[in-house]
Amino acid sequence: MISIKDVRKVFPSKQGQLKAVDDVNLEIKEGEIFGVIGYSGAGKSTLIRMLNGLELPTEGSVTVAGRVISKIRGSELRKARQEISMIFQHFNLLWSRTVSENISFPLEIAGVGAAERQKRVNELIKLVGLEGRENAYPSQLSGGQKQRVGIARALANNPKVLLCDEATSALDPQTTDSILDLLVDINKRLGLTIVLITHEMHVIRKICHRVAVMESGRIVELGQVLDVFKNPQQKITKRFVKQVTEPEETKETAEHLLEHCKTGRVVQLTFIGEAAEQPIITNLIRNNNVTVNILQGKISQTQSGSYGSLFIHLDGHDTEVDKAIDYIRSQQVGVEVVTNE
Ligand SMILES: Nc1ncnc2c1ncn2[C@@H]1O[C@H](COP(=O)(O)OP(=O)(O)O)[C@@H](O)[C@H]1O
Ligand SMILES: [Mg+2]
Repeated sequence: MISIKDVRKVFPSKQGQLKAVDDVNLEIKEGEIFGVIGYSGAGKSTLIRMLNGLELPTEGSVTVAGRVISKIRGSELRKARQEISMIFQHFNLLWSRTVSENISFPLEIAGVGAAERQKRVNELIKLVGLEGRENAYPSQLSGGQKQRVGIARALANNPKVLLCDEATSALDPQTTDSILDLLVDINKRLGLTIVLITHEMHVIRKICHRVAVMESGRIVELGQVLDVFKNPQQKITKRFVKQVTEPEETKETAEHLLEHCKTGRVVQLTFIGEAAEQPIITNLIRNNNVTVNILQGKISQTQSGSYGSLFIHLDGHDTEVDKAIDYIRSQQVGVEVVTNE
């Protein structure tokens, strides 16, 4: 569906040439929810803007839905853009138009007749859950509702691809989740390909099938979301994964626990996929001569399975604790003994 080949984007700057996107190659499949994560300045926006021709690559080619976006201009590009919609962090709504009129706008541009427009707007209002707010102005809406208008407007002309540039970054966590649920719903119902960029691993975790990690214009890691969570390779990826797997207070808690657990060992278990659903702790207690204290844990869902992290304190004779740890290891669970360093 989307093919990015040997793409570079260089901006002139006072310090010389700035490589915003550097030698990127990516294939995104039809119907996929593909995430790109990176810190500010990594080149994410520049990359996504090359997918709808808002930026032209300095080198390389970008193909979307069979069209070489990096080559076409003028009316051909405008036509292509009807199939490649975008939503933004700050919504980019027309403030003097009502909800309905905002959603109708791209249909007017596309030359759709009034009756057909009205019908389509009504469908879209329902699809994004804005019934009753048709005549409100953007200033009268909450952030989540504004983004729903953004999404409805983006879907008006039945695009094949939806690009999301930090679409939930201005929203609180709860609203973020409801917008992400809506994106998953749209992806499933319409088979729409979604490319989203974010600096929040939570967003990737919740809705993406695959993820690319971007740093200094390059893609430094790429994989299925669950695999990346299970086995992050790069330092930057590990930091992003920790945003979600380890609550802020985990390190403090672990240190506090180590101080108070004079005997035995504190162990962190990492569960991925099916392992998260097995009664490992029950079996551990049944089959080993150790006491087990559950200290802290968290299990999260991704689009392709669950994963989680659990801290336990194992106490007993050293050999028994060793045996218990060997048992956990045999259960395809990540095991890390937490030490004081
Ligand atoms: N139009 C532009 N002109 C000059 N430099 C730009 C332009 N757009 C982006 N940049 C630079 O390119 C780099 C990547 O920016 P951007 O793609 O916005 O990153 P991100 O979205 O990951 O924060 C930054 O250093 C930014 O300052
Ligand atoms: Mg950006």
